[in-house]
Amino acid sequence: MADLKQKYEDELFLPEHIQAPEQSPTVSRRPRSRRLLYSCGVVYLLIHLLWAESLVNYLHGKWLDYTTESLDALCPQTEGLVPVKNQQTAEDLHSLFATENFQTKAIEWLSGAVQIPTESYDRMDPVGQDSRWLAFGPLHDYLAEAFPLIYSTLKLTKVNTYGLIYEWTGSDSSLKPLLLTAHQDVVPVDPLTVDKWVQPPYSGHFDGEYIWGRGSSDDKSGLIGLMVTVESLIANEFKPSRTIVLAFGFDEESGGIYGAQTLSHELLRVYGEYAFSMIVDEGNGISEKYGALFAVPAVAEKGYINTKIEVKSPGGHSSIPPEHTSIGILASLLVQYESNPFKPVIGRTTATYGTIQCYGAHGDLPKKLKRAVKRSTKSDRAMREVEDFFFQAKEIKAQVGSTQAIDLITGGVKANALPETANAVVNHRIASDSSVAAVQERDTHLVKSLASHYNLSLTAFGQDVIGSEGPYYGSITLSDAFGTAFEPAPVTPTDPEAQAYKLLSGTIISTYKASEEYSENHKPIYVAPGMSTGNTDTRYYWKLSKNIFRYNHKSGNTKWPGVHTINEAVKATSYFEVVKFLTNLILNADESNQI
Ligand SMILES: *[C@@H]1O[C@H](CO)[C@@H](O)[C@H](O)[C@H]1NC(C)=O
Ligand SMILES: [Zn+2]
Repeated sequence: MADLKQKYEDELFLPEHIQAPEQSPTVSRRPRSRRLLYSCGVVYLLIHLLWAESLVNYLHGKWLDYTTESLDALCPQTEGLVPVKNQQTAEDLHSLFATENFQTKAIEWLSGAVQIPTESYDRMDPVGQDSRWLAFGPLHDYLAEAFPLIYSTLKLTKVNTYGLIYEWTGSDSSLKPLLLTAHQDVVPVDPLTVDKWVQPPYSGHFDGEYIWGRGSSDDKSGLIGLMVTVESLIANEFKPSRTIVLAFGFDEESGGIYGAQTLSHELLRVYGEYAFSMIVDEGNGISEKYGALFAVPAVAEKGYINTKIEVKSPGGHSSIPPEHTSIGILASLLVQYESNPFKPVIGRTTATYGTIQCYGAHGDLPKKLKRAVKRSTKSDRAMREVEDFFFQAKEIKAQVGSTQAIDLITGGVKANALPETANAVVNHRIASDSSVAAVQERDTHLVKSLASHYNLSLTAFGQDVIGSEGPYYGSITLSDAFGTAFEPAPVTPTDPEAQAYKLLSGTIISTYKASEEYSENHKPIYVAPGMSTGNTDTRYYWKLSKNIFRYNHKSGNTKWPGVHTINEAVKATSYFEVVKFLTNLILNADESNQI
């Protein structure tokens, strides 16, 4: 038996290389039949291995299919919503919008508004004191002339001279009014860049495809889009059941303090807290991501604080210097900041997570990643995988987590005098799931140990943190630099019960499905809740409605994206889609008893 076993192993299983070298060379020269058997064994084994591997792959694929099957549930979509009661109005207007007459007129309307340079600047004095506000007068004259039906039908209130509120009173006062907003001002054109524009910045030139000029996209196409829509509805003898209010600020690009802020007081006074069924302002649009088309209305905005760091220490002649001056200490505090950046993480309650779930559900992404998106609702490990992938996109990474940027620094007055004070300003954008207090606490914590190290007292945002056991060599004070801190915006609900979100999404989908673009490519559109990276005028409107959307029904796919830079232009067809969308939105909202 033993011999037989030995023979068996020799013949079949012992690979050549483990045979002892001192064995006679004749041993390795096996007879032909044994060599054949040996090769057959190897081939057999290989086939087995290959088969096993493909089986594993097959099962893995099946398992991925299984685990990503119900991914759609992460990004529920609603049906396209078309007016029923107002169907005739909708049909009449959409036929009108398709005519060349209308399109020529619509282009003229926008072009005329672009030709009035309503620039707003940082740090302007109040209306009445700063002559630069006078630029808005001609725009008001233009609107009155261009939209006679609006001016004879709607009630106009001017707030702080240039803020505009138009009310189109509905017949049913039990319906909460709809608030549609835009801004009249534009970002100034840098005089040094004028010659880099393909068309002059305030020409309003139409080149057959694009309407050119500063504001053509941001946000005069929004403002004029609304005016054109309402003017056309009146011309068609539409009479709203639900009151429609238009509100146009005039300094959105410089913080909204004279415009939207004063408008918000008036709107609160007249209509009351949470009086509006929904607010739609400028914001994110439609873009192609990961092979699919997404409309991403922003339902959240980051908060904001400028932390001022002030260091004080004794002055004196610099010929007898201390080990550290105020400037030196400030420098080490700033190094401390930059060595401790905020870590971007995707919070499960954030709008950005909603966006990513939609990308995961509907984007053309590897199965493995889709599975990670699905599992990330519960698993932190899967969430890290999701972050690793999506943070490759800068615009996604910028949406999550709080951020810091040291933007200002001052200190010292003379080369031979020790600086008594030095200060810097750190600009923070506060994550949607964080707060002003949390960022203040983090800043305090960050400088506290250095304050002790340098023998300095510390006062942070009005609280004495180190100060009871003095005397100290000097002091550190943290404060809200310009008193402009604000919390992240309340998040607009987007759960399956959220009727305003449903109405908006349904309108986006039906408008898109009726577009020429859709009839050409038949690519479906998905609506995903999103996050705004900047702030719009709506930061003053939180008390007016729980349903605030920052959304332009405009494609991001354009040859001239020049918003805030040279060569701003809007595609005429894209601007017509804005008008169609706003028409559908007003008509859908008018007949809905859900919002
Ligand atoms: C801190 O500075 C004060 C004032 O210069 C000095 O009196 C005190 O001894 C210092 N404390 C320490 C621990 O160096
Ligand atoms: Zn804007």
